[in-house]
Amino acid sequence: MTATTAIRTAARVVDAVKVYGRGDTEVRALDGVSVDFPVGRFTAIMGPSGSGKSTLMHCAAGLDTLTSGTAYIGDTHLGGLDDRRLTLLRRDRVGFVFQAFNLVPTLSVAENITLPLDLAGGQGDTEWIDALIDVVGLRDRLHHRPSELSGGQQQRVAVARAFAGQPDVVFADEPTGNLDSRSGDEVLGLLGRAVRQTSRTVVMVTHDPVAAAHADEVVFLADGRLVDRMESPTADKVLDRMKAFEVSS
Ligand SMILES: Nc1ncnc2c1ncn2[C@@H]1O[C@H](COP(=O)(O)OP(=O)(O)OP(=O)(O)O)[C@@H](O)[C@H]1O
Ligand SMILES: [Mg+2]
Repeated sequence: MTATTAIRTAARVVDAVKVYGRGDTEVRALDGVSVDFPVGRFTAIMGPSGSGKSTLMHCAAGLDTLTSGTAYIGDTHLGGLDDRRLTLLRRDRVGFVFQAFNLVPTLSVAENITLPLDLAGGQGDTEWIDALIDVVGLRDRLHHRPSELSGGQQQRVAVARAFAGQPDVVFADEPTGNLDSRSGDEVLGLLGRAVRQTSRTVVMVTHDPVAAAHADEVVFLADGRLVDRMESPTADKVLDRMKAFEVSS
């Protein structure tokens, strides 16, 4: 094997432990998780409610800190950054999509998409943003306000915003949780296209097997531990795996 065959990782955590509270109320939300998210891949994180999915995403993305263990974005060790550098890293190298679309109601679609770049005081890559508008299919809605869009369209704006700054990795926590199945499917197809057409990396938390089937790989958490990984998932295979957890837990 030569160095050129090595898979680069967009984000990874090593021996990640996250403890909330102390004493009687202590919760080990992450109990020694090591997982990597390779560049150019769409990974879904699945597991029962309370298994630590959101905690893993928040710690991997630098929104929260680990109790022990290490988190990296690319080669950057997040634990080694002060608050200012962490803020800059999140702004410049990480994109986020949340269940609630979190758009600014007074701004147009176009302004919402470029908001992170405007806040950073730059214009971004205008060709990239132009292409992105076509990927998300919002060319004819650019001057609308979010309230004039359907939920699915609003989430597509949020996806475009997450990718606007060409981040190393986009983290999405239940991005289809507020959408009907058809709009959800559109948003998932869009995340998949964004990964394939732009070689970007997406990490998505979901508890929907149909959503997970859009990913290249699924990692399964249970009780704060990584318990399985599945390449080329289908909704049926994921559902079977989830049922097995319920039987064994
Ligand atoms: N801020 C917090 N303070 C205390 N406990 C927390 C906090 N955040 C999460 N937890 C606990 O950590 C565990 C993991 O929570 P987490 O939100 O990561 O689960 P999840 O897999 O995302 O669940 P869900 O599918 O319901 O969103 C749970 O037991 C939860 O109650
Ligand atoms: Mg969660």
